[in-house]
Amino acid sequence: MSALAADAFPEGAGLRAMRETDLDTVLAIEQRAYPFPWTRGIFRDCLAAGYPAWILQEHGCPIGYAVLSVAADEAHILNICVTPERQGRGHGRRLLRSLVGLARDLGAARIFLEVRPSNPGAIALYQDEGFNEIGRRPRYYPARDGREDALVMAMELVGEDTGTMPPL
Ligand SMILES: CC(C)(COP(=O)(O)OP(=O)(O)OC[C@H]1O[C@@H](n2cnc3c(N)ncnc32)[C@H](O)[C@@H]1OP(=O)(O)O)[C@@H](O)C(=O)NCCC(=O)NCCS
Repeated sequence: MSALAADAFPEGAGLRAMRETDLDTVLAIEQRAYPFPWTRGIFRDCLAAGYPAWILQEHGCPIGYAVLSVAADEAHILNICVTPERQGRGHGRRLLRSLVGLARDLGAARIFLEVRPSNPGAIALYQDEGFNEIGRRPRYYPARDGREDALVMAMELVGEDTGTMPPL
């Protein structure tokens, strides 16, 4: 699993598989990072389904996580999150690159995600890493004043090689 090589992260940081025993910590981050957080049941269902789920830790302390699904030749980023105090330091970009590399290693030809139009930081990251907007899902997310659309973004993986990307 070359995409998860330890040298992709700064010293003391790295990824490990998410376990059910991580969910208290994951939920504590999730509830501070999102206005409409996932529930414990959603994370549990993802783990039970065997979706690749990762904890990003720094000196043994969880600071983020990500959940991917891969079916046939399509991968879908279901969640990617860095704890608010550790955002803006390149962790999200490294996490995203690891997911893209993992999706490729698992045989995906393209990778998708949904994002709120009201999340310009995440959109900027995805665009910068090569994702393009391919559509919209109307009223996909709950929002304070009703529902919010989702932007659907995708990137083709065939013929690309994140292994040649420069280190952050
Ligand atoms: C989105 C998220 C994962 C990014 O992680 P991060 O560690 O903060 O991001 P990085 O430090 O790696 O930044 C990577 C790029 O993202 C963009 N970015 C991140 N935060 C931004 C902000 N607040 N405003 C504008 N651009 C931002 C920039 O393009 C940045 O590149 P730069 O530093 O060269 O300018 C993180 O902010 C997060 O967990 N947010 C809450 C959960 C969430 O919204 N997840 C995405 C759901 S679709």
